Amino acid sequence: MIVQTVSLRNIRSYARLDLGLEPGLVLVVGANGAGKTNLLESLHVGTQGFSPRTRADAQLVRFGEQAGRIALRGMRGETKVEVEVTLQPAEGKRAKLNGAPLRAAEQLRLEVATLVFTPDRLAVVKGGPVVRRAYFDRVLGRLAPARAPLSVEYAAAVAQRNAALRRASARYSSREAIAPWTEQVATLGRRLVESRTEVVAWLAPGFAERADELGLPTARMTYEGEPPTVELLDARLERDLERGATGLGPHLDDVLLTSGTRDLRSFGSQGEQRLTVLALLLAEAELIAERRGFAPLLLLDDVLSELDPNRRRILAERVLGTGQTLITATQASSLPLDPAQLLEVSPGAVRAA
Ligand SMILES: Nc1ncnc2c1ncn2[C@@H]1O[C@H](COP(=O)(O)OP(=O)(O)OP(=O)(O)O)[C@@H](O)[C@H]1O
Ligand SMILES: [Mg+2]
Repeated sequence: MIVQTVSLRNIRSYARLDLGLEPGLVLVVGANGAGKTNLLESLHVGTQGFSPRTRADAQLVRFGEQAGRIALRGMRGETKVEVEVTLQPAEGKRAKLNGAPLRAAEQLRLEVATLVFTPDRLAVVKGGPVVRRAYFDRVLGRLAPARAPLSVEYAAAVAQRNAALRRASARYSSREAIAPWTEQVATLGRRLVESRTEVVAWLAPGFAERADELGLPTARMTYEGEPPTVELLDARLERDLERGATGLGPHLDDVLLTSGTRDLRSFGSQGEQRLTVLALLLAEAELIAERRGFAPLLLLDDVLSELDPNRRRILAERVLGTGQTLITATQASSLPLDPAQLLEVSPGAVRAA
């Protein structure tokens, strides 16, 4: 999506903001605490219905106010889009798309694609497997929306099986009561492993290309895990009963990220881990553009720090030609080329330079 205008009322540090945005690369500069992240966050809420940094919507409303509103106008491919998200912590969040109310604000995800980089995202590489599993499950939801519920359904089946295991070991119920959940874990688990493996296969070529371009050679990603089966689960039933938990299945899998022979999860430098996250994001952006017919909105917060000037240029050139990208920095000179638009943020205000 290309956002043409954004208007904020009582969102974070903005009491009132009306702004026109250019397509292409938009550089957002300002001192620490000026409100750059607030602006990007508002665009995320306005296009996806939720904040990338908090689930507590009340935090988005400006201190001392009762309600906030984010309104956007823009283009999704050739079609005009208008979105309005209102936050009234007492009544919840409401969203409208082209004037029609949505059942839930999060439904915007199915309509508009936005990808975000924040420094927290480095956890996708350097964090534990749980962060990577959640990340790749979200990518699955974006690339194959019909399969978005799969990871939640699988997690529910594992939770039910675990509860059945604990009941059986406490002799509140028989071992037979575990069997239906074992079936469920095997069926949903196999589908989840297949889907994640597919996501990794979709992303891998673009990931390797973008990483190579950013100076991270022979980058690979490999899904680490096997589909669970009833036989495998039954074979470890005694151990599972003892632990009261299912010790096999995609809730324990991981994705291996390597450059050459190095495991980037443990041995990547800070900058290399950042490049890895960026290569993942750019690879996904290309897939979304291909599948949906329009490029996603890219929101890159604090992405330039830790990147050397050459890599900053490569990144900027890569995003330059596609859709719309907002990049934040504390100074304009951080970007080694001219953006389509330069926005200067000062506390509570944004002006086009
Ligand atoms: N709900 C809110 N109401 C009013 N102000 C808020 C609210 N939430 C956060 N702020 C303020 O917004 C300010 C700007 O935050 P923001 O994270 O956008 O800055 P930034 O420009 O991204 O800074 P940095 O360069 O350090 O990342 C903070 O000082 C914070 O106190
Ligand atoms: Mg910030």
